[in-house]
Amino acid sequence: MQAGTPARSALLLGATGLVGGHCLDLLLEEPAYDRVVVLGRRPLSRTHPKLEQHVVDFDRLETRAELFGVRDVFCCLGTTIRKAGSREAYRRVDLVYPHEAARLAAGGGAEQFLLVSALDADPTSRIFYNRVKGEVEMAVQGLPIERVVIVRPSLLLGEREEHRTGERIAGAVLRRLSPLMRGPLARYRPVQARAVAAALVRLAGEGRPGVRVVPSDRIAQIAAG
Ligand SMILES: NC(=O)c1ccc[n+]([C@@H]2O[C@H](COP(=O)([O-])OP(=O)(O)OC[C@H]3O[C@@H](n4cnc5c(N)ncnc54)[C@H](OP(=O)(O)O)[C@@H]3O)[C@@H](O)[C@H]2O)c1
Repeated sequence: MQAGTPARSALLLGATGLVGGHCLDLLLEEPAYDRVVVLGRRPLSRTHPKLEQHVVDFDRLETRAELFGVRDVFCCLGTTIRKAGSREAYRRVDLVYPHEAARLAAGGGAEQFLLVSALDADPTSRIFYNRVKGEVEMAVQGLPIERVVIVRPSLLLGEREEHRTGERIAGAVLRRLSPLMRGPLARYRPVQARAVAAALVRLAGEGRPGVRVVPSDRIAQIAAG
């Protein structure tokens, strides 16, 4: 941090996940942040002098509104229909919770809300996943927050604790094909989860007002700086 630059505080949702875990590492390493608040439904097994963690009920986030009094809110929440158990439960994690978090961030005076969305997010899409991602993007953009950053990764690469066979096979195939995926296909190249997290943290450092939507094929470049 440069002399005279005020320290920043961050709140992170989804820190137990693939992108969120990398995001947490980077936020804790980043000297510009002096406080990193993590909200999760289960505790993390790590401690750090900057880390403050809270186990919360995501269906009652409004009861923890005071925790949203930070500068930057990072949302890396997500699930799959299979994991959540139903479309409705999926919608809750990928749309309702992020929207509520953004609403509380706006109410708490946060300057930035940074959201992990997905390639082809579109509220009018006939594909359910893309539609929900499009809806959450629209919902957070409609809130009075100075800056909203949305990153739209393609398939994520990285080591998961949990087994997702389909994603693992698709990742292996696409990684091999990646060098051949040029022009309009470049956007479908898989992207490292670590790069998504690095891009988010870097973009939070920019601080320009407005909405910034980052397509998948720009993520690695932004992450590299
Ligand atoms: N997977 C892909 O290839 C891909 C591609 C494009 C975009 N994305 C998007 O990228 C984002 C991050 O993905 P990821 O793979 O890093 O996610 P992930 O590893 O599955 O992590 C998801 C996070 O959300 C939390 N979460 C899930 N269900 C919850 C619930 N009911 N209540 C509270 N927290 C809950 C998880 O907490 P627990 O650890 O407690 O479950 C975890 O911290 C997601 O929005 C995803 O849709 C993913």
